[in-house]
Amino acid sequence: MPGNYAVIGMGFVGLSQAIALAKSGHNVIGVENDTQKLRWLENYAQGKRDDFPLYEKDLDVETREQFRARRLTFTNNLEHAVNNSEAMFIAVGTPSLGNGKAKLSIVYQVANNTAGILNKNQPYLWVTKSTVPPGTAEIIRDFFKDHNVGVVSNPEFMAEGTALKDTMYPDRVVVGAQEDWVITAMRQLYSSFLARSAGHFRAMDNVSAEITKYQANVQLAANIVMANIGANLARVVGGDWEKIRLGVGDDIRQSRFNKCSLGFGGSCFPKDVRQYRHTLEQAGASPLDLAVIDAMIAQNEEQKLVMNNYMTDYYGHDLTEKVIGIWGLTFKAGTSDTRESSSLAIIKDLIRHGATVRVYDPKATREEFEETLGLEDTSPITYCDTKEEAIKDTHALIIPTEWSEFSNPGIQTLQDLMTNPVIFDGRDILDIELFRNTEASYFSVGRQPLINTT
Ligand code: UDX
Repeated sequence: MPGNYAVIGMGFVGLSQAIALAKSGHNVIGVENDTQKLRWLENYAQGKRDDFPLYEKDLDVETREQFRARRLTFTNNLEHAVNNSEAMFIAVGTPSLGNGKAKLSIVYQVANNTAGILNKNQPYLWVTKSTVPPGTAEIIRDFFKDHNVGVVSNPEFMAEGTALKDTMYPDRVVVGAQEDWVITAMRQLYSSFLARSAGHFRAMDNVSAEITKYQANVQLAANIVMANIGANLARVVGGDWEKIRLGVGDDIRQSRFNKCSLGFGGSCFPKDVRQYRHTLEQAGASPLDLAVIDAMIAQNEEQKLVMNNYMTDYYGHDLTEKVIGIWGLTFKAGTSDTRESSSLAIIKDLIRHGATVRVYDPKATREEFEETLGLEDTSPITYCDTKEEAIKDTHALIIPTEWSEFSNPGIQTLQDLMTNPVIFDGRDILDIELFRNTEASYFSVGRQPLINTT
């Protein structure tokens, strides 16, 4: 039987959830407060424009398809959404506040408004998909103390770039709730999803579900920190991180989330690690527990500048005469998202040393990048339409993002276009053999550099 659901927040999390529910045959109302974005989505869905507000695989095509099938509609009217649904999925952003705490005011505002609209006797489900710290469900429950509302903590585990796939085929669905009827309803709701993916349904209390989300991200972030420490070691003493990580990862107890990089970024890991630290502190965690998380955060910041430090070793600290090409502005390949991307730290540091930069990214937009960069004077940055244009007459190239189009640049092209073919590969995506016995110098994260001294 098709259900009627509301999804609040039409970012990639909310849209993926809305589309996944619609594709399962349900009627879904997507609620978006930002009227400009709302119109954009509607116009796109109706075929009145062809550009989509965000880049995320399949979301554009599926939005149009589900809209045309009349299973997905959009509104900014919460009352309409509440009155026409039996459950509401909350997928609004919970960005980091300056003190490391997640911003929860929007979640509480929606809870407050929903409580004001909802009929007191109507059974209803509030499902939090947004990442929220332990204890949040308890506060939300308070907004609905006079209602018949089941408050569910149902964190999402989707990665950008594969958001819809991860939602449609979950490896697990974590559901935290107090009442048995709520767990039963959620199990029913997700049964077709889990049948498709042979994933697990993990029922638990709300606090455990809330912690599960943070723990999952912090442990994955810790893997990357350990990978980068290992890659830094391999680079210095000789060795190849790519080979080492495969050797480590064949043991099934070891995760495969261990590619080296210039640190992790994105809209989740950095903010979730900070919030986790804050939660630990509030809970009176031991100083050593806190120190481990602090060290992870500091290591990740330092990792972002591994190539910049190589650069200043190579060219000296004054880079005023230097033009540096940057391939990749997003925090990883497969997304247009530049939030907390390593490129931000890299470019700011280069500009601080006086360099000018030529940047190229297949998906990031200049507007969004400049917003996340937050620099008043962006005159040292030239935005290029192709990767070739971005390395023209440059003294070095840094590759912070692993877009596949960067993995085979052609040594001749590099030598022809660049003033000095000095390559800093922040993802170890290039074949080091390309550079042996050439004019180029090649630096990577997890291998010793090849420096042309002629
Ligand atoms: C992450 C989690 O994977 C997802 O489960 C959660 O719901 C949200 O946060 P996402 O932020 O989209 O998803 O990106 P992810 O693919 O996990 O990568 C995070 C960062 O780690 C990126 O900057 C990525 O480049 C980096 N990374 C990832 C590495 O440096 N090495 C790796 O082996 C994997």
